[in-house]
Amino acid sequence: MLELKNLSMHYGTGAQRTQVLQDISLRVNQGEFAAIIGPSGCGKSTLFKLIGGLLKPTAGSIWLEGKEITGTTGHVSYVPQQNTLFPWRSVESNAALALEVAGTPKQAALATAREWLPRIGLGGYEKAYPETLSGGMQQRVSFLRALLSPQELMCLDEPFGALDALTRSEMQQWLLDIWEEHRRSVLLVTHSIEEALFLADRVYVLSHKPARVVREITVPFARPRSAQTVVLPEFVALRQKIHSLIGIQ
Ligand SMILES: Nc1ncnc2c1ncn2[C@@H]1O[C@H](COP(=O)(O)OP(=O)(O)O)[C@@H](O)[C@H]1O
Ligand SMILES: [Mg+2]
Repeated sequence: MLELKNLSMHYGTGAQRTQVLQDISLRVNQGEFAAIIGPSGCGKSTLFKLIGGLLKPTAGSIWLEGKEITGTTGHVSYVPQQNTLFPWRSVESNAALALEVAGTPKQAALATAREWLPRIGLGGYEKAYPETLSGGMQQRVSFLRALLSPQELMCLDEPFGALDALTRSEMQQWLLDIWEEHRRSVLLVTHSIEEALFLADRVYVLSHKPARVVREITVPFARPRSAQTVVLPEFVALRQKIHSLIGIQ
């Protein structure tokens, strides 16, 4: 459904010019969980800004369901790296935002958000404000907002980066359970090899900047996945193989 064709991107001009992405081609199929893994600073967030239409590539094109969307916004649901909850909006009102933006009347959008909050472990927090929630809870509200948005493809930019290790692994399992139930198309970027292998069906491995796709890997582990998955010898071997491909973690 999403296809990137020969995308290249640089910032600046003349002596300031930095090449960030080099001839990136990849795709995300309908209902698939794809991941992009690459070292910090290689250009992952830049790639998402291109997909979200916030930036234009210097070469190449972006296609969604067979239509070119290069440089245009509003086609994908995009959860940026930084927390983007509005501090002045309650939890239910933050969660309802994407529905409202898409034209659902406010009361109906709030009703849908309220229906969902208990299913993500936030029943009773409808009227709470983001600052009163833990990092993991805030992150679940951001996900819910993306999940309720009408765009079929969710792009998640290092969604667990700011969380402590324990919360991070709880949130990975949570996301996986929700995804296995709903099967939205997801593209996740991460610098964690383990996270990509645990969550995704397919993984694109990027090089250091300027990022190129160095390998496309079909992840062989059966679903549903759990804590047992990451200790399988095949999992450990694949993690090691990717590690030596890019030399991180
Ligand atoms: N607006 C910008 N202007 C100039 N350079 C930038 C800008 N945004 C990012 N960069 C540079 O591009 C590279 C890739 O950044 P980014 O896409 O954020 O990487 P990642 O998300 O993989 O850590 C980095 O070297 C960063 O310093
Ligand atoms: Mg980034």
